Amino acid sequence: MSTRRLVLSRSAALIGAASTGLLLPEIARAQSGKVRVGLMLPYTGTFAQLGVAIENGFRLAIDQQGGKLGGREIEWFKVDDESEPPKGIENANKLVQRDKVDVIVGTVHSGVQMGIQRVARESGVLSLIPNAGVHAATRAQCAPNVFRTSFSNSQPTRALGKAMVDRGHKKAVWITWKYAAGDEAFEGFKEGYLAAGGTIVKELGLPFPQVEFQALLTEIAALKPDAVACFFAGGGAAKFIRDYAAAGLKDKIPLYGSGFLTEGVLEAAGPAAEGIITTMHYSDSLDTPRNKQFRLDYAKTFRLQPDVYAVQGYDTGLLLAQGANAVKGDFANKAALHKALKGATVDSPRGKWTMSESHNPIQDIYLRQVVNKENKVLGVAAKALADSGAGCKMA
Ligand code: PHB
Repeated sequence: MSTRRLVLSRSAALIGAASTGLLLPEIARAQSGKVRVGLMLPYTGTFAQLGVAIENGFRLAIDQQGGKLGGREIEWFKVDDESEPPKGIENANKLVQRDKVDVIVGTVHSGVQMGIQRVARESGVLSLIPNAGVHAATRAQCAPNVFRTSFSNSQPTRALGKAMVDRGHKKAVWITWKYAAGDEAFEGFKEGYLAAGGTIVKELGLPFPQVEFQALLTEIAALKPDAVACFFAGGGAAKFIRDYAAAGLKDKIPLYGSGFLTEGVLEAAGPAAEGIITTMHYSDSLDTPRNKQFRLDYAKTFRLQPDVYAVQGYDTGLLLAQGANAVKGDFANKAALHKALKGATVDSPRGKWTMSESHNPIQDIYLRQVVNKENKVLGVAAKALADSGAGCKMA
């Protein structure tokens, strides 16, 4: 049989198989079905606004790709995880087992993320983390199918301590919600602050998501440190900033924080937020064409100002689109998909970044200050900072 006739008879056989429905279901789905995208985010509770900003940013990036991934239409699935760690595994399984998603985009809370991590490791479903910084996700429990587009919890605070000592604040109190995000943010803070010559007078904490700060603020007033550093986010951050000022501490003991403290809360916190200095992998005022265009597009689409969460959601969309394009929408081609995601450069509003070996962004950390309800960049606090990825062994 000539080569030409062989080719012809092969394609005739394929047409026959397609018309009788005999094509392998995987191939048929990869080529013609919709990509199933699962969003697992908080839409209620103290992090509700963060979930919305992440979804908005993610959708904006996808819309800018023509609303498709690797040439395929998208079917959306959504779960409100309520920032409730005990429901994490069950909620992730709703997306993986019931909805059969190709990718989980989520979530915000580090405790809930551990539920997603377990399901992602067991099922092999692609997991993109648009916020939660829990170390284990890209350290001891890293996985080839898990990629983070945000930060590790100790990344933003690593450069905070030096900025405080540079300003003459050598004795600090640390205060946070007591759970992985706060404890790991403290790890980064402590390392940088001690190395710069600072002393930590006391660590204070309260359970997530409590916001009864009064007794702790009274304790801070009695301790009289040079400064206070903290991790809070979302609705709780807005209240902490207001309560700190209302307790009369704002003008006596400068407040510093991981940058989440002043993200998405500047309207709600009002004048109490003015002057607060933080470190973060993004700043509203980054003077680049990329950031300005993003802020304009986001504001036009959603009638809201974007914040770091919106940027992280946007970057998750940019990353996923790169991966999907590399495999032409074939999410079953996992080796090629993971390779493309690992090798991606994300052209983010925060500045270009790449993935570390353990799948966490290598990125610049900015020093910022709240001026006229905006996080203004003061400088780069750490250049191309990578998480250690300690204990990560890719299977
Ligand atoms: C987290 O739980 O990992 C977390 C939550 C909110 C943030 C940052 C980290 O703003």
